Amino acid sequence: FYEGEFSNEPDTDWSLGTNRKWAEAIRDKWKKGPEDIPTEIPLIVAGLDVYHGRETQECFDASQKEKVCTARYAMANEEDVIRAVTIAKADPDGWRKKRAEERHRILSRVAAELRRSRGDLLGAAAANTGKVFTESDPEVSEAIDFTEFYPHSVKAYAELNNVECQGKGVGLVISPWNFPIAIPCGGIAASLAAGNTVIFKPASAAVLTAWQLCQCFWKAGISKNVLQFLPCSGSETGVKLTAHPDVNFVILTGGTNTGLRILETRPGIFLAAETGGKNATIVTAMSDRDQAIKNIIHSAFSNCGQKCSATSLVILEKEVYKDERFKKQLVDAAKSCNVGSAWDFHNKMGALIHPPQGDLKKALTELEPGESWALKPENIRNNPCMWTPGIKWGVSPGSYTHMTEFFGPLIGVMSAKNLEHAIELVNQTGYGLTSGLESLDKREQNHWKNQVRAGNLYVNRGTTGAIVLRQPFGGMGKSALGAGIKAGSPSYVAQFMDFKETDFPR
Ligand code: SER
Repeated sequence: FYEGEFSNEPDTDWSLGTNRKWAEAIRDKWKKGPEDIPTEIPLIVAGLDVYHGRETQECFDASQKEKVCTARYAMANEEDVIRAVTIAKADPDGWRKKRAEERHRILSRVAAELRRSRGDLLGAAAANTGKVFTESDPEVSEAIDFTEFYPHSVKAYAELNNVECQGKGVGLVISPWNFPIAIPCGGIAASLAAGNTVIFKPASAAVLTAWQLCQCFWKAGISKNVLQFLPCSGSETGVKLTAHPDVNFVILTGGTNTGLRILETRPGIFLAAETGGKNATIVTAMSDRDQAIKNIIHSAFSNCGQKCSATSLVILEKEVYKDERFKKQLVDAAKSCNVGSAWDFHNKMGALIHPPQGDLKKALTELEPGESWALKPENIRNNPCMWTPGIKWGVSPGSYTHMTEFFGPLIGVMSAKNLEHAIELVNQTGYGLTSGLESLDKREQNHWKNQVRAGNLYVNRGTTGAIVLRQPFGGMGKSALGAGIKAGSPSYVAQFMDFKETDFPR
C-alpha cells in the first residue's frame, strides 16, 4: 500500500566521527548560549505572540549542576483559552478546506524543517529535560516519520470514491516531557493532516523543546492560527481547555488520572489516550540469555526508565531464575550503564526529570517481604535527580513492585514456574502497553502472542522504540482507557476525521 511512497527516516550514525563532531558543535553552541537559543517564549494565541504570566525554568546540565540557559515562558490563562478556541474554530486561514494533497505538501516541508533542525532539537531536549542525545535522536526520526506518514494515510481515505472526509474541527494535543519531540509532533501532524486546527499544550517541564518543535511547523508555512501554542497549568487552565465545548477531540499522552478527568468533564468527547504501562519481559529457558540481557538493559534503563514502554518487570522461567551466571551478568550489565551528563556520549543515562517522589521514591528505596537488592540504586553526585540503575530480586505476585508503574531506573525480577505462569503474572498488572518475550522457540512465541494482553509485543527485541508503520504503538487495559487507535498506524488519522458516505450518481 505504502510501498515506494514512505520510508522510515534513519537515525544519526554515532559510529561516524563526523557525526560525533557535529553533536559536539551543538553541545558547544547550546552551552555557550544564549544568542541562538530561544529562551524568551511567548504563547501563540490567535496568531499573536503573547507575553504574560511568566514562569522561569532554569535548564541545567544536571550532572554538573551547571546552568545551560534560563527559559522564560508565558503561561496561558482562561481568556487565552477562549481566544485560542474561538480562532481555532473560525479557522480564518482555511486549513480545513485545503485539499489533502495540499496539506501533505506543507507537512512534507515540516519534515524538511525537522531534518534541518535535528541538532537544535537534540540540544533543546538535553538542556530542558536531561535527555541524552542517543535517546532524543530517534525521536527526531520518529517525528519526521509522523509528518510524512500521516498525510499519506489521509490521502488513502480522501481517494475513496463514495466517501467525503473532513477534519472534526479543533484538536487539543496534550503532550508529556519524556518524549518531548516525537509525541507532540505525532499528535500535531495527525490532527493537521486530517484537516483540523490544533491547540498544543506542552508539558510544563518541556516547554523549551516544544517551542523549538513548533518553529518547524510555523517556518514550513503552518500559520499561527492553525497551530497555537498554549503552555499552561494543567489543573487551573488545562481543564478549561478540555472542558471547552468547541474542542472536538483530545490527544493525550500522560497520566491515567488526567485521562479520567477529561472523560468526566467532557463525557462523550473523543479522547485518544496513551496513559502508561507496567511492562514485562519474560525470559524462558529457551532464550539466548546474552541477547535477553542486552535487550532488558536498554528497555529498562534508557532515558532512566522514564518511558511508558520501558520494561520494569523481568519474569524469569525457573531455570533462568536460578542461573547465577545470568543474574551476575544482568547486574554487571546494569552497573556498566554510565550515568552522567546528557551532553556526554558515554552516558546511557542522564538525570531524572524530577527528584523521585511518591511511588518512585518508595520503589528506589524500600524492599517488600521476600525482595532483596541484586543491585541497589544509588543517589549520586549530591544531586537528587541522579540515580544509578537498580534491580530488585524475588518480587512477589501482587506486590507493590509487581503492580505499580514507577517510571524510573528500576527492574523488579520475578520467578515463574513456566511460560503459562509468567504470562499470568504479566496480565495480572491490568496494564497492557508493551510486552517482551525472550525465547527462540516458535511454539512458545505463538503461545505467548495469543495469551498476553498488551498492544505492542516484541520477540527477542527490546520493548521501547516503536517504529512508525512497522510497530504501530498503543495499548489496552489501563494503558489506553479504552479509547484510541495505535499511533503510527494507517488508521490513526481516521479518528480525527468525519466521514460522509455519498451514495448518489457522479
Ligand atoms: N513510542 C515510544 C516507544 O515505543 C513510547 O512512547 O518507546
